[in-house]
Amino acid sequence: MTLSRNLTRLLALGTLLLAGCGTLNSASESKPNLYQQLGGESGVEAIVYDMIVRIADDERVVERFHNVDIARFQQGLETYICSVSNGPCEYTGESMQVVHAGHNYTDTEFNTIVELLIEAMEAQEVPVAAQNRLLAQLAPDYSDIVYQ
Ligand code: HEM
Repeated sequence: MTLSRNLTRLLALGTLLLAGCGTLNSASESKPNLYQQLGGESGVEAIVYDMIVRIADDERVVERFHNVDIARFQQGLETYICSVSNGPCEYTGESMQVVHAGHNYTDTEFNTIVELLIEAMEAQEVPVAAQNRLLAQLAPDYSDIVYQ
């Protein structure tokens, strides 16, 4: 199956980041924390809020959220992004596999959500390098979220 550009980008970045981990040195260890690059608490909140507005306005995925407690989704996504970006949060919700189980989410829907996240980060002026670092952190979730 041919994956669309966003998914290809996401997976390629994940691979690149993993490859880079083998050669980390003290200079790269001093790189700013990803959470800080995303703008810390207010930055992550703004990204998630912006993304939810885009979901609400996107006919490709909005129906998937019709019966969802959006305040809870917002809180869960904020904590999840905070956690995977090495922020001061611990995500204690259900696993990505459990949360998304039984809905048969498709590659295309996954790509749409990634696209809306990228647009939200662009709107919040997150540097592209930081955008890509977050996407790389989320790449391994693909197989837990998409029905295969
Ligand atoms: C990069 C991809 C994705 C990530 C990182 C992600 C992450 C999350 C997180 C963290 C939650 C909140 C869990 C909680 O605390 O309760 C959640 C819930 C949810 N996600 Fe995703 N998700 C992704 C893709 C998708 C896709 C493709 C869809 C469908 C189009 C989707 C639909 C939902 C729905 C409907 C909920 C609410 C579940 C509920 O509360 O019943 N997600 N997701």
